[in-house]
Amino acid sequence: ATLHEYLRARAADAVEASTSAREAEDCENEAAIVRALARTCAKIGRFVRRAGLTDVKAYVEGKNGAVNVHGEEQAALDDAAHEMCVEALREEGSSAWIASEESEDVVAANPRGRIAVVFDPLDGSSNIECGVGVGTIFGLVGVDENSAAASVYARPGNDMRSVGYVMYGASTILVLSFMSTGAVCAFTYDESLDAFVLTKANIRIPTSGNVYSVNQANYRKWDDVMRAYIDECSKEKKSLRYIGSMVADVHRTLLYGGTFHYPADASNPNGKLRAVYECFPMSAIIERAGGLAISAADTRVLDFVPTSAHERMPIHVGSPADIERLSQMYRESP
Ligand code: AHG
Ligand code: MN
Ligand code: MN
Ligand code: MN
Repeated sequence: ATLHEYLRARAADAVEASTSAREAEDCENEAAIVRALARTCAKIGRFVRRAGLTDVKAYVEGKNGAVNVHGEEQAALDDAAHEMCVEALREEGSSAWIASEESEDVVAANPRGRIAVVFDPLDGSSNIECGVGVGTIFGLVGVDENSAAASVYARPGNDMRSVGYVMYGASTILVLSFMSTGAVCAFTYDESLDAFVLTKANIRIPTSGNVYSVNQANYRKWDDVMRAYIDECSKEKKSLRYIGSMVADVHRTLLYGGTFHYPADASNPNGKLRAVYECFPMSAIIERAGGLAISAADTRVLDFVPTSAHERMPIHVGSPADIERLSQMYRESP
């Protein structure tokens, strides 16, 4: 089945189960927003796949000299991907708000809209110039009509409805959980059809894995428990795989099992990854595939309530047995 057919079927089921016309309309809008995002990601993928060729050279190899709200020098494609997503969402028309890594303020769209979209237009952008996998991350949350911008981010990640990401890797893969109970599915983009085709229905993360993924260079800045946990991983002869694009590292973790971490450290007490459009959608995908996502000992990532659209948080996600072990070590530490 193509994504189009999959969404039509899922939206029809949701409409049938809905108890009001408004709810039914929300389901249709949610499917339309996901379709608009998927179409835009296919377009971003074409830029990524033509890296270095004249027509997109400036986008992929250029820096536009701007520095974003995080103090990161923006890759031209960071900004181009952001603009393409905003334009597609405005054209689709039912989004109330749009929160993006590349926009300091939450972007107002349709004031009567009842769905807000959060996204990281280009994740892992430091990898774009050397052709290593990058991605786009997105999440949808329900808001009231005439809602305020804060209703997009000042709420727990549990409120996320559809969540997903597209990885521009060896192939262009969309991983999606549609609406809040959607199974985690994978779709591969088929250039000849110009469509995403369902390739994995109902992905379940392995109970444990033999790979851990973390930026080892920060080892000496972690707390004692994190160091002890990573020491144990190497004692258990696990492999370290770290690509430096969250989408690629988490996608491998979802399929192969194991863990991905961006811990707090001495210089980044809240870690590096942003709650709203990196940690929340990726944690929702991992949890809905049977994994765990914690920020500290016993706190689930999705229970956290950010106070700003760009607030950072520590994150540990992956196979339930492996993350539970870390949680237990935090609980037992003095
Ligand atoms: P982004 O490119 O959207 O700013 O995200 C980059 C993030 C994430 O993709 C990755 O896991 C992390 O940065 C890598 O950070 P380090 O280079 O500090 O390990
Ligand atoms: Mn960035
Ligand atoms: Mn990112
Ligand atoms: Mn980004």
